[in-house]
This record gives sequence, structure tokens and C-alpha cells, in this order.
Amino acid sequence: MKRILLTGAKGMLAHDFMESQKERFEIIPFDRDYLDITDIQQVEQRVQESQADIILNCAAYTNVDGAEDTGKKMNLDINVLGVFNLAKIANRQNIDFITLSTDYVFDGTKEGGYNENDEQNPINNYGLAKYLGEKLACEVNPQSIIVRTSWLYGGGNEHKNFVNTMLKLSETRNELRVINDQFWSPTYVMDLSQALWDIIGNIDTFRGKILHLSNETSNNGITWFDFASEIFKMADRKINLTPCTTEEYQTKAVRPKFSKMNNNSSVQMRNWKEGLREYLSKP
Ligand SMILES: NC(=O)c1ccc[n+]([C@@H]2O[C@H](COP(=O)([O-])OP(=O)(O)OC[C@H]3O[C@@H](n4cnc5c(N)ncnc54)[C@H](OP(=O)(O)O)[C@@H]3O)[C@@H](O)[C@H]2O)c1
Repeated sequence: MKRILLTGAKGMLAHDFMESQKERFEIIPFDRDYLDITDIQQVEQRVQESQADIILNCAAYTNVDGAEDTGKKMNLDINVLGVFNLAKIANRQNIDFITLSTDYVFDGTKEGGYNENDEQNPINNYGLAKYLGEKLACEVNPQSIIVRTSWLYGGGNEHKNFVNTMLKLSETRNELRVINDQFWSPTYVMDLSQALWDIIGNIDTFRGKILHLSNETSNNGITWFDFASEIFKMADRKINLTPCTTEEYQTKAVRPKFSKMNNNSSVQMRNWKEGLREYLSKP
């Protein structure tokens, strides 16, 4: 039986990955209290004692706006140093290493979707840290598997996500303004978890590769406005949605305009509407 050491075990992706547990694999989940990925000695000790075959890194600093000010240092510590530590120890102990990255490593100027080897040029601190994390992981451990994904929704009640936020708002509001000029693909975390299991099950094929895994969208992808419209349609909620621009909704971090990613790998991701339908049908 293969053993998977899972970091960031209290996070959204880790939650669904554990829910989708497969036979033949044992998951050893470590939350931040037990394994802080910024502490290389702790990483080495935990990896050794777990006798893991694979490290799946779901730990991250994910507050994109926070990374611009109060979370600047944490963003670098966790998303750069933390990823470097894991990649280095995985390499030293000769075990597999999978880590998650983001569409925010791109600058958002390319329409039609980014390919895995397209040039990266992050435009906010979170994207920069994830880019540096990727780069260092590949340098210190060329067998690292990098999975870039975008706009996750799923997890348990304790995890915030856009779908639940929209549904909650529709209980108290008749109107909402939603950004309609940033284009990307959403990702149902259960679908991403299934894709991670596909990678783990055929890990020989994926060592040293970068993968783009989000639910499938056509053309340039969809906007927050498109996503919100579909959520309310599927959930049968009546609410007036008005499209607005990024300029009207200022945030601390600049976000890429076009960040859809093309998946050129053998790992299949279904259409975004199918994932959303399944998520909404859950009790
Ligand atoms: N969410 C998205 O929309 C999105 C989009 C693109 C890519 N991604 C990437 O996908 C991955 C999973 O994201 P997610 O949404 O599941 O993240 P998440 O819910 O924010 O979970 C991240 C987890 O990492 C833990 N963590 C933070 N610092 C740590 C440390 N030093 N050592 C160990 N654990 C630590 C956090 O614990 P605390 O809560 O205690 O801090 C949290 O439980 C990340 O790599 C993220 O960058 C996410």
C-alpha cells in the first residue's frame, strides 16, 4: 500500500482529497500544528517517521489580497520557502513530490488560454510567490510534479467559497453587482481531487511535469458574472445580477484579465457546468 503524506490537512483541497480516499493508498494527513512546512527540520522528521512514498502539498498561503500587505512575509515563507523545503526533502529521501500552483503565475494578457510552458510573469505578490515556489521546487527536485489550478470551490462547511457566498447573499439581497471582465475557469475541488488520484495512480508518467487542471470552459473561459448567473440559475434563485468592471471593484492585488489555462495532459477534467451541478446537488 502506498503512503501519501498530505500537508495543509485542514484546507479546502485537502478536505475533499481525503473525502475521495482510494483503496490501495493510505493518507497521512498533517495540519500546520503538526507539520509547519516552513521548518525544514520538522519536514525531514515528519517525512521520515511517516515512511511516505509521496508528498502531496496542499499547504499554502492563499489570501491573494493579504499577500500585498500584512501577509507579505507569510506569503513568501509558505509559498516559496515551504515548497522548497518539501521538494528538497522529497528529493533527499527519494520520494515523489506533488505541489499545487495557480493561474496567477501568468500576467493575464493572453487570450485563448495559457499552455503549460507559456512564459510566466506574475502581476501580484501571491502569483510571484507561487511562481518562485514552482521554480525552486523544479530546481532542487526536477522530478517535482506541479499542478496549476484556478478558482477552487468545494470543501466542508468551514471553508469559504464563491458558490456558497453567492447562495448566502441571495437570501438577503435582491440585487448584486459582479465582475464581468476577468476570464478564467472554475474548479470543483472534488474533480481536482479525482485528477490528483489519477496522477498518483500513474505517477511514473507525470514526474517532472507541469499540469493545468481546472474544469473545462470554452474560448477564454468564464467571468465571475457568468459563474454567478449559472449558480443562481441552477439553484433556482431569483436575483438581479448586474455586470461590473474590475475598476469599479478595487482590490489590493491586481488580478490577471485572462487566466484560463489549457490542459494538454492525459488527465481529464469535465465541463465546469457538470461539476457545479454536482456540487449544488449535494445536501
Ligand atoms: N483556493 C483557490 O481558489 C486556489 C486557486 C488556485 C490555486 N490554489 C492552490 O491550491 C492549493 C490548495 O488551496 P486551498 O484553497 O485548499 O487552500 P486553503 O484552504 O487556504 O488551505 C491551505 C492550508 O495550508 C495551511 N498552511 C498554511 N501555512 C502552513 C504552513 N506553514 N505549514 C503547513 N500548513 C500550512 C493552512 O492552515 P491555516 O488555515 O492554519 O493557515 C490551510 O489549512 C494551494 O496551493 C493554493 O495556492 C488555490
